[in-house]
Amino acid sequence: MISVQLTEARAYERLHGAAVSPEQRPLFHLSPTVGWLNDPNGFSFYQGEYHLFYQYHPYDTNWGPMHWGHCKSKDMLHWERLPAALAPDQPYDQNGCFSGSAAETPEGQHILMYTGVRKDGNREFQTQCIAVGDGINYEKLPANPVITKELVPPGGSFQDFRDPKIWWDGSQWLAVAGNRTEDGSGAVLLYASRDLKDWNFKGTIDRSRNQWGKMWECPDLFPLDGQMVLLVSPQELETSDLNFHKGYESLCLLGSWEPEKNRFIRRSVLPIDQGLDFYAPQTLLAPDGRRIMVAWMQDWDSAKCVPEGQNWFGQMTLPRELHIRNGRLIQQPVRELERWRGERTAYENVEVSGDMSLPGIFGRTLDLTLRLQAQDGPFTLKFAQDNSHFTAFTFQPDRSLLTLDRSHSGLPKGHALSRTIPVHSREGLLELRLILDRFSVEAFVNGGEQTLSATLYTPQEAAGISFQAQGKAVIQLEQYALA
Ligand code: FRU
Repeated sequence: MISVQLTEARAYERLHGAAVSPEQRPLFHLSPTVGWLNDPNGFSFYQGEYHLFYQYHPYDTNWGPMHWGHCKSKDMLHWERLPAALAPDQPYDQNGCFSGSAAETPEGQHILMYTGVRKDGNREFQTQCIAVGDGINYEKLPANPVITKELVPPGGSFQDFRDPKIWWDGSQWLAVAGNRTEDGSGAVLLYASRDLKDWNFKGTIDRSRNQWGKMWECPDLFPLDGQMVLLVSPQELETSDLNFHKGYESLCLLGSWEPEKNRFIRRSVLPIDQGLDFYAPQTLLAPDGRRIMVAWMQDWDSAKCVPEGQNWFGQMTLPRELHIRNGRLIQQPVRELERWRGERTAYENVEVSGDMSLPGIFGRTLDLTLRLQAQDGPFTLKFAQDNSHFTAFTFQPDRSLLTLDRSHSGLPKGHALSRTIPVHSREGLLELRLILDRFSVEAFVNGGEQTLSATLYTPQEAAGISFQAQGKAVIQLEQYALA
């Protein structure tokens, strides 16, 4: 049975989504059909196609009662819009269907596991729920909510208990969820079930102890290249380390798994994306073995910057292939992006001193790789540039610092405008691959050892690219138009 709330949401998005012309959207980054988008949800491979759901408020470009938007794709870049999958239409989720995940059952059904939010006066309850479907329509289980406060360990919050990530381990269902513990900071809880209805609490696999932020949102746990990876998105991270970002930050915890104790043994904590807009990543395991991650390309800080006249807001990052190498998280845009590459323009051994631009190097939908081969002093690459706008990356070789600066991008003051991070450059060399897609830039540094993502609010006519070197620099460039 499709509820009144879901029927209305579907009718609304059909009508108003069709009114958005393709040019008003990113070319290959997912944006909502209409209204607001935040976290990626239910990123999964089901019956030959990738499905991606998202936190969705179709009726407004601000966050509101959460629905799940839905789309599918064969290559994770061309997305086909599908009708909204979930609406807050049950007593246990009447205040929102919060983030969650999806998986295929051994019988070939698609299941969604999400957080139901219910308010009772000024008390809020978050519980975990299941919906079963065929890739378009999903029925919420009569047994919902399937994980309730009785299954939260002592001291754990019933209000901050959310974002289940589910997977089938060959003999049972497992799921991790974020929780706030008695010390006020975050933890990740593990649950198991044989039938999706009856769940057991298996243990607290890791916790912040107020060292890595407060509430841990959107956990994800998976093996990768011989290690165990736990992704978490802490709120209120306090840090003075330039590698991390204060406030909402997503972290990659690297370690191993202790099966007898159901515990994650954490060895190191890494930033995931060091730009200005990245949160709540989620991964899937592709049929070819690739571990692929997608995240909300936004920070809550700039989430109020809806350009005038635009009736959608929020976009996903590119799906990224993940690896662990030398204790670092390596991220690369999915290789499917290479099929989008059009005209190539390349330059070798270009000497830059002062200000310059190069014929054919410009645009707002590009895959552009810059290799800095030698330099005397700071080097700047500007893009999305016209007489009054630009966004820039500046590399200072002596201190090995990279700055992303969008203070001239058109984004009003008062928002995160720039960020400087230490980079691991080898003898002052640097490789910077930029993916530009109308309203964003994603930078992959030195083969994806570090990444920086940022949304852009610059008119599309600002498509110039230029270079500045203090002293002299030698560069190599390779640009592909993406169309
Ligand atoms: C993360 C988050 C999740 C929650 C969702 C609500 O951005 O706060 O913890 O489920 O957004 O939209």
